[in-house]
Amino acid sequence: MPAPVVAPSLLAADHGDFAGGIRAVEEAGLGWVHLDIMDGHFVPNISFGPQVVAALRPRTRLHFDVHLMLAHPDRFVAAFAQAGAERLTVHIEADHDMTKTLAAIKAAGLKAGIAMNPDADPRRLLPYLESVDLALCMTVFPGFGGQAFIPAVLESIRFLDTERQRRGLDFRLEVDGGINAETGLLCRAAGADTLVAGTAFYKAPDRRAFVAGLTA
Ligand code: DX5
Ligand code: ZN
Repeated sequence: MPAPVVAPSLLAADHGDFAGGIRAVEEAGLGWVHLDIMDGHFVPNISFGPQVVAALRPRTRLHFDVHLMLAHPDRFVAAFAQAGAERLTVHIEADHDMTKTLAAIKAAGLKAGIAMNPDADPRRLLPYLESVDLALCMTVFPGFGGQAFIPAVLESIRFLDTERQRRGLDFRLEVDGGINAETGLLCRAAGADTLVAGTAFYKAPDRRAFVAGLTA
């Protein structure tokens, strides 16, 4: 299992001060930030696009873990690669050819991730596990920060971790949505190594302690 990582979601930061939100991640001693891209179509909310990602790029060396909640993620691979993303994760539920999109992400020199909604059958990911650097199990229905963790997803996490071990693969297993000091540890125990946290990270009175509790 890859070393544990906490990736704060900028969605929960002050949208008038993303630079400050990035600084908070650096000050907590972290190396990754999670960027949620929403198109108002695949999910019922709009966040920000490649121009914002490009504007943040020169301000930080953080690893940009970009989560595309887009109906047509294949159309935006080049834009996010150019904007400075290091990792692009696309949904199994979106309208695209997954094999082609993963290949395009890798051809652009980025790490490729595959995501599934909480109600998806994790077996849908099986054909792609050899081709991905990350599998993301959404632990809420995507679209909004601050929602409650859905415990039924723990079963999907266990399933994918078991499959990862069985095949000797080293992709990251990420969870996203409602992750806090308690639910994050449940996910770690189920096999997740990469924890996205928005609300719980930015609201934590001691962010370093919050991270330490999840990565021990
Ligand atoms: C949900 C996003 C998440 C979200 C997590 O659509 O993909 O990254 O911002 O936020 P919290 O941690 O507040 O649930
Ligand atoms: Zn996300």
